[in-house]
Amino acid sequence: MADEIPSRLEAVETPALIVDLDRLEANLDRAADYAARHGIALRPHVKTHKSSFVASAQLRRGARGLTCATPREAEVMAEECDDVLVAYPPIASPRARRLTALPPSVRLTVALDSEQAATELARAARDARREVGVYVELDLGMHRVGVPHVDAAVALARYVSEIDGLHFDGIAFYPGHIREAMADQDAKLEALEHTLARAMERFYDAGLPPRVVSGGSTPTMWRTHEVPSVTEMRPGTYAFNDRTTVRTGACTTNDCALTVLATVVSTSVAGQAVIDAGSKALGREPMSGPGEGFGQLLEHPDVIVDRMSEEHGVLDLAKSAWRPSVGDVVQVVPNHVCVAVHLHEYVYGLRGGHLERGWPIEARGRARHTA
Ligand SMILES: Cc1ncc(COP(=O)(O)O)c(C=O)c1O
Repeated sequence: MADEIPSRLEAVETPALIVDLDRLEANLDRAADYAARHGIALRPHVKTHKSSFVASAQLRRGARGLTCATPREAEVMAEECDDVLVAYPPIASPRARRLTALPPSVRLTVALDSEQAATELARAARDARREVGVYVELDLGMHRVGVPHVDAAVALARYVSEIDGLHFDGIAFYPGHIREAMADQDAKLEALEHTLARAMERFYDAGLPPRVVSGGSTPTMWRTHEVPSVTEMRPGTYAFNDRTTVRTGACTTNDCALTVLATVVSTSVAGQAVIDAGSKALGREPMSGPGEGFGQLLEHPDVIVDRMSEEHGVLDLAKSAWRPSVGDVVQVVPNHVCVAVHLHEYVYGLRGGHLERGWPIEARGRARHTA
C-alpha cells in the first residue's frame, strides 16, 4: 500500500486523515522520556490511533505494554505486543471469550469492578486453559466505572485471588474527572494521591499488595509523578493530541499531529464556506464552551467548523480575512481526535510536505473479522 499512495497532499482524495510524522514522533518521544525519567511504566491506550503502526512505534520507545478498550483492539494489538491490558469490564459473554482466545503467549490483564465480571472472566480463562491478571478498578472521582469504597475493592481483590483462572495483579483508576488546565489540577491530584495511599495501606493490611497501580490520562500525564502511588500510566490522546488537549495545556497547537484533510465544495452562501468533512469525518464532539465549533483550521486558526451535516462542514469566516475558493484544500484539527480516527479506515503520514507513507486503522470497528 505504501508505494501506491500519492506523494502530494493535494492528490489525496478527501476527507482523509493526515498525520504529521515529525509531530507524532516528537509526541511519542516526549512521553517515553517523561515516563523513563520518573520511573513510571508507560502503557499507552491504543483507542486513539487503533493502528499497529503507531503501537509498534510506542513499543520501540519502551512502552511496557498496551492498553485496549475493545476486543477488536486487543486482537489487533496482540499481534504487536505480548502484554495487553483491557481496561474495560469483560461483561457480555462473547467479550470475555474473545479476550481469553488471544494467543497464549500474550500476557492478558483485565480491569474490572464486579464479582460478576470476575466470575465470567475466570470461567472463560479456565475454558481457555490460561490465567488472566486482574486490576481491581477504583472510582477515584470520575463516577463512571470502579468500586467506590476501598473495603469493597479489597473484598473483590480477595475474590479474584481465590478463584481459579485469575490472579490479582493491581489496582486501576482513570482520572477522567480531571479536565481542568494543568496548572489548576493541584487540589484534585493531591486528593488522588491521598485516597490512593490510604487504599494501598488497606490492600497491604489485607495481605493483597497491588503489584501495579495503573492510572493516568493525557490531561494529567505530565504531572503523574506528583501522584507517587502510580506505577503505570495509560495516556492515549497524547500520540496525536487535539483541540481539547491544547485547552488543558497538556500540549500546544504545534503538537497536534493529526488533521482531517478536506476540500472546499461550496462558497455560495456569504460569510461561510462548506467543506466535505462533516460529522462522519470529524465526529460531533463539542468543546467545553458553547460556540466553539467542531474543529479549527490548521492554517487559519480564526476559522472554525461551526455547523455540520453528515458530509458537510460549514466554516464560519466571520472572524477571518481569508476567502477560500471552491476546490481549496484545508486541514482541520478535530476537537476529539480519538473519535475522528475511528471514523476513517486509513491514515496518510506527511513529512516535509511529502506523503511518506500510509497505514490502515486496523483496530477500528467491533467485528472479529473485517473484510
Ligand atoms: C480507562 C482509560 N484509560 C486511559 C485512557 C486514556 O486517556 P486520554 O484519552 O486522556 O489519554 C482512557 C480514555 O478514555 C480510558 O478510558
